[in-house]
This record gives sequence, structure tokens and C-alpha cells, in this order.
Amino acid sequence: MGSESDIERILYTESDISKRVSDLAAEISADLSSSGGSTVFVGVATGAFLLIADLVRRISAPITIDFIRVESYGSGTESCGEPRISCDLKLDVTGKHVVLVEDIVDTGRTLSSLISYLEKKGATSVSVCSLLDKPSRRKVEVKLVGGGKLYIGFECPDYFVVGYGMDYAELYRNLPYVGILKPEIYTK
Ligand code: PRP
Ligand code: MN
Ligand code: MG
Repeated sequence: MGSESDIERILYTESDISKRVSDLAAEISADLSSSGGSTVFVGVATGAFLLIADLVRRISAPITIDFIRVESYGSGTESCGEPRISCDLKLDVTGKHVVLVEDIVDTGRTLSSLISYLEKKGATSVSVCSLLDKPSRRKVEVKLVGGGKLYIGFECPDYFVVGYGMDYAELYRNLPYVGILKPEIYTK
């Protein structure tokens, strides 16, 4: 388990992702220049580590970068209730614009709880940049605060996907593309 032979089909290739991330970075850069004040990019560990790395390298405005760790899936394929912050921010986000960076919005629980958390911490606005959005699985509406914007790479069909940061049982995160995992891998 953990190798490319477990992938049924590639949904977004390395080059699809690269092009889309460039577009998102351009869009965010344009909005940053009009927002004023300093912006903190917060990657949601572990899944967002590749997206945030690729994204911030395409943004030339002065920004700061931090991570927050939230877990809700354990090692399975289903969300198991309330997400838990298991590693907090290093930076103070009071009075800052925050761009939360995610790999995927599924039920919306992770982002909703993070947005309220950041709002409580005094962030001026919270935007979200996620590579994938799976609206068909939404359980909780993701409400942005302080005029924050939503930047989505691709609307993803309802398959269990891995790669480009996304895991099954902590494996496959290092694949450079997003692929559909063969169901026999997680139904065994
Ligand atoms: C995954 C994914 C998102 C979240 C989305 O993280 O990376 O953070 O689930 O699901 P939701 O919209 O239903 O909340 P996970 O909890 O698996 O942790 P990981 O990033 O360490 O894999
Ligand atoms: Mn995650
Ligand atoms: Mg996970």
C-alpha cells in the first residue's frame, strides 16, 4: 500500500494543478494589493503542505506563513465529528488578514471550525484557498468572515482522492497529482 499502482485514475495531473495554482496565486495577489495591511497564509497541516508551498512561491507581496494542525479523519475515509486543533499557530493573527490554505473542502467541518477560531483570535478577515471542493459532501456551510474570499482550484466529483498532500492512512501525500484511490485499498 502507498504506491502508484493503488491509483485507479488520475483526476488532476501535475500540470493541471500547476496551471490552476498559478491562476489562483494571480487572483489572490490582485486581491492582496487592494486589501491593505498584512496577510498571513495559514496552511492546514498536513494536507495543505504542497499547495501552500506552491502558492506562496507565486506571490510576491510581503506575506507571512504559518501552519495549524487539525485532524478529523484519523486513518479512515470518513470524517468523525468535531475537528480537533492538535497544533496551534505560532503567529498572532490579531488585526491580520488570513488566507487559510486547504487541500480539500469536504463536509466543511474543518474549515468552519477554523474560521470561527481565527475570528475569535481577532483576524480582520478570513479567506480560504483550497485546491479541491467537493460540494456534494457538504454538511456545514463555510461562512467567510470580514469580507474574506473563497478561492477554489477544482470542483471535485465524489471519489476518494489522494495525492498532492491528501492521504489515505497517511500514505500517498507525496504523489505529485490527484488521483482516485482504488476502492479495494480502503474496503479491505
Ligand atoms: C482532511 C483534509 C481537510 C479536511 C476536509 O484532513 O486535508 O483538512 O480533511 O474535510 P472536512 O471538510 O470534512 O472537514 P484530515 O483531517 O484528514 O487531516 P490531514 O490533513 O492531516 O490528512
Ligand atoms: Mn487536512
Ligand atoms: Mg487526512
